[in-house]
Amino acid sequence: GPSLNSLDTFSDEEQMLRESVQRFATDIVGPKVREMDEKEQMDPTVVKGLFEQGLMGIETSAEHGGAESSFTSAIIAIEELAKVDPSVSVMCDVHNTLVNTIFRKYATKEQQDKWLPQLSENKLGSFCLSESASGSDAFALQTRAKKDGDHWIINGSKMWITNSYEAEIFLIFANIDPSKGYKGITCFVATKDMGIQIAKKEQKLGIRASSTCTLNFDDLKVPAANVIGGEGLGYKLAIEILNEGRIGIAAQMLGLAQGAFNAAVPYTYSRSQFGQPVGTFQGMAFQIAQAAIDIETARLLTYNAARRKEEGKSFTKEAAMAKYWSSVIAQRVSGQAIEWTGGVGFTRETGIEKFWRDSKIGAIYEGTSNIQLQTIAKFIQKEYS
Ligand code: CAA
Ligand code: FAD
Repeated sequence: GPSLNSLDTFSDEEQMLRESVQRFATDIVGPKVREMDEKEQMDPTVVKGLFEQGLMGIETSAEHGGAESSFTSAIIAIEELAKVDPSVSVMCDVHNTLVNTIFRKYATKEQQDKWLPQLSENKLGSFCLSESASGSDAFALQTRAKKDGDHWIINGSKMWITNSYEAEIFLIFANIDPSKGYKGITCFVATKDMGIQIAKKEQKLGIRASSTCTLNFDDLKVPAANVIGGEGLGYKLAIEILNEGRIGIAAQMLGLAQGAFNAAVPYTYSRSQFGQPVGTFQGMAFQIAQAAIDIETARLLTYNAARRKEEGKSFTKEAAMAKYWSSVIAQRVSGQAIEWTGGVGFTRETGIEKFWRDSKIGAIYEGTSNIQLQTIAKFIQKEYS
């Protein structure tokens, strides 16, 4: 079979996880992919399966019901899921790299004891930062929280929130003191039953099985004990988590590119025109070779950033590079995959066109490509001036 994974830096445990996620993705997710895309709905058996497989608390301690594995393991799971369905991949990604990580890194022991077991067991999480008027300019958010005795009252609205249709646990960023600018932003945990309203579920170009909703908070009453990471520290917590999260999106786009490649390339050797397999014409063979290089570069950038983060080294610039580049090559390779398979690839039957539709989001969420470039440019300026 294809051996495009050139990296041999994974531990036995990581390799075993990769194989078990591959099996889950192929057997459980695979048969549902097309239907979920067409219905724009995640299948509940897939969500349940992610929890049962132990994929929703990969880095969470065993004490809190998790698998206690490495950050790289979380990245491997995202990559493998994306080879089959980038929507399922991002569901797992947001839950692990954004939501669980905030609790693991910033919550008190008491908060961890309360929330992490639920997030490992069966409750899906959402990360609510963006608003209609603040996407890239995330710290200009308008959602407000006011103290009222032993509660906070949250008012405002969030837009573009992944997982929010199925989620029960929400991390909400709200400003408690706008006079302090972004230093008023605070992170709160709230549950759906406290009164979070889903105002709109988006219909999208790609990752259509992944829910993306507008949420309204109308005097949402949250206990004082639900502040995570300290008052006014929400902005720092959000961006530090996003720095890591971007490695997850890099892995999603890497898996997507590999999935499209795997779906298209064998066809080019079985389809003949002019008496020859189309994949053996030099014009095709060289494109395929270049796509293999594209995928390889994304893989090296992604896992290098993951290991640096795991080893406690600086990784923000490397993560931005990985996310930027994986998004570029995911679009390119999945687009080429359609061309390599001709009319067949343009139909919905092979699933190749879906990879291309799904690839577009990589350049938008968790910081657009321009935001990644801005981050990289700031580092270069610091290093060279
Ligand atoms: N790492 C650490 N700290 C950072 C940082 C980074 N990459 N970028 C900025 N900061 C800190 C600065 O140090 C500064 O803090 P101090 O005052 O304590 O020093 C503070 O943030 C403000 O810095 P700037 O004035 O430079 O930042 P800004 O206001 O111009 O923009 C930003 C900052 C909002 C973080 C912006 O750069 C950014 O990343 N925007 C994109 C937002 C984003 O990624 N949203 C994703 C939403 S979640 C999502 O999308 C999930 C999903 O789809 C699956
Ligand atoms: P804008 O910020 O308005 O950007 C528009 C264009 O302007 C972009 O090309 C951008 O690169 C460019 N631009 C903006 N500022 C600059 C600048 N300073 N320099 C150069 N160019 C610039 N958010 C969450 O909080 N949680 C989620 O779970 C979540 N999931 C999402 C899922 C989907 C499917 C989508 C589409 C979005 C999701 N988001 C989520 C929001 C996402 O993070 C934002 O869409 C993203 O940060 C971009 O913001 P924006 O859409 O407002 O675009």
